[in-house]
Amino acid sequence: MYEKMEELQQAIQNCNQCKLCKNRKNIVFGVGNEKAQIMFIGEGPGADEDTQGIPFVGKAGQLMNKALDALGIEREKVYIANIVKCRPPNNRDPEPDEVSSCINYLRNQVMIIKPKIIVLLGRISLQNILEPEYKITASRGKWVEKKGIFYMPTWHPAALLRDETKKIDFIHDLKQVLKKEQELNK
Ligand code: URA
Repeated sequence: MYEKMEELQQAIQNCNQCKLCKNRKNIVFGVGNEKAQIMFIGEGPGADEDTQGIPFVGKAGQLMNKALDALGIEREKVYIANIVKCRPPNNRDPEPDEVSSCINYLRNQVMIIKPKIIVLLGRISLQNILEPEYKITASRGKWVEKKGIFYMPTWHPAALLRDETKKIDFIHDLKQVLKKEQELNK
């Protein structure tokens, strides 16, 4: 475990712990405020993220940014990362061996940031961070507190692209996040 984000990033820049290293253009390490109170965790980089090395910059990311903007959540104030740091081919789900090779990097990031709130974006994030048997449909919008961190599972932004009606839930869940942040800072 590294104490500084920079050291962690440096240490994994040539990571070859799993097969996703073979086709990646860039490791998508994570971006944002290293002292963020709110952290967002997605699934894994898509094509645009792989090209730019930055999480959530493609279509789904742009939609997420719009929602963040609308709620006055600045991307620079939060921290955004993924379960796996390299792009799974054709945007397939990350496989268990890939997740287990990568997730300690994310744990290290959480350890450094010490967020009060973690927003779990979609099923893959929910199941790998909380419980493998949790369903996103049943879990979304409901707080889970674990070891002093409040987790808010919600839809993955890509799901909003497929089904517009989910945007309402997404905004609702993010409003809960803002409310909780205020409560925790009282
Ligand atoms: N989807 C994700 O889960 N993460 C990204 O960074 C981009 C799209």
